[in-house]
Amino acid sequence: MKTAKRRGDRTVAPVPFEPGAVAPRLLAWYGRCGRNLPWRQTRDPYRIWLSEIMLQQTTVAAVIPYYQRFLAVFPDVATLAAAPMEQVIALWAGLGYYSRARNLHRAAQVVVNAGGARFPTTVEALAALPGVGRSTAGAIVSIAFDRPAPILDGNVRRVLVRLFAWQDDPRSPAAERFLWTQAEALTSREQPHDYAQAIMDLGATVCTPRDPECPACPLADLCQARRLGIERQLPAARSRKPVPVRRQVALLVEQRGRFLVRPRPPEGFLGGLWEFPVADLGENETAASGGARLIGEFGLAGPGTVIARVRHAYSHFSLELDVLRVVVTESGRVAEGDWQWQTPAQLEMIPLHGAHRKVLEQVAATIPPGGTDE
Ligand code: ADE
Repeated sequence: MKTAKRRGDRTVAPVPFEPGAVAPRLLAWYGRCGRNLPWRQTRDPYRIWLSEIMLQQTTVAAVIPYYQRFLAVFPDVATLAAAPMEQVIALWAGLGYYSRARNLHRAAQVVVNAGGARFPTTVEALAALPGVGRSTAGAIVSIAFDRPAPILDGNVRRVLVRLFAWQDDPRSPAAERFLWTQAEALTSREQPHDYAQAIMDLGATVCTPRDPECPACPLADLCQARRLGIERQLPAARSRKPVPVRRQVALLVEQRGRFLVRPRPPEGFLGGLWEFPVADLGENETAASGGARLIGEFGLAGPGTVIARVRHAYSHFSLELDVLRVVVTESGRVAEGDWQWQTPAQLEMIPLHGAHRKVLEQVAATIPPGGTDE
């Protein structure tokens, strides 16, 4: 029995199990119930890296066809590094979070440039690649190289929050320290490959967010949330400080299948990232009236149609962005200065800033894939 510990500012009950009790239960369960997934047939770090990137914020079912198509075209890291970005994005289209595809391509080039297509083998070297965080690096090391490395992705975080009945904000610095320490302590030293797959599968299939299937869980007898009867209340909601809401209107100005964008000035907020035409809304302004004002400033003929609302959280404010679509027949004076017309395929490749990338993802289904040639 462990002694009581302080977690953040709250003293919690002692944890009545040894860390070594977890892995054998999980491994036995994985032997019976583990899923047969395409990336489990390989130890090739390139393939495992690809699967882990695709699985970030995306379900297994959505990933499988993309993973298979991607590997048919890019069977190794050198082929991926040498490919044009457009081809990479085209194979990613529909999977969402396109920064993953851009980072994947850049990381492939880093790997190849660093020394003959040999993949990095340590958590530190992997986490230095674009798009690879500490948890993804831990998953690659465990799964590809069978070396113990902690993982704390969304599924594992939920399992640990419940196992230890962590009742505070699961994303606070104290939670990060506590959960990473536990993730490290629980990891199997003997079978890190299977352990990694097992704990991720448990989170995805049994210890699910809304309706955990506790009777089927191999850790049920150890689970502190279950002992307290609070497994459905955990993880607790994140505590966020209220931040001011900033209201803006953006224009999706279309001319012959191309859209108006420009890079933001290199210095300052979101420096160098690209944007659609955008303006702050005054206190009493609606999206329609603010949009009409912006349309006028661009010398376009209105009115636009409101087609989407996007919300985006920054650290110091939250953005509520209404999007108007405006179709023009003449480029007129709107393509002056830094403004450029780009096709949807080109928009996929330029670094639009996060909120405007969300705009594109929300409206992608409604715009045709290609622009017309000039
Ligand atoms: N989620 C993230 N990585 C995973 C993996 N290797 N298997 C199943 N689900 C996952």
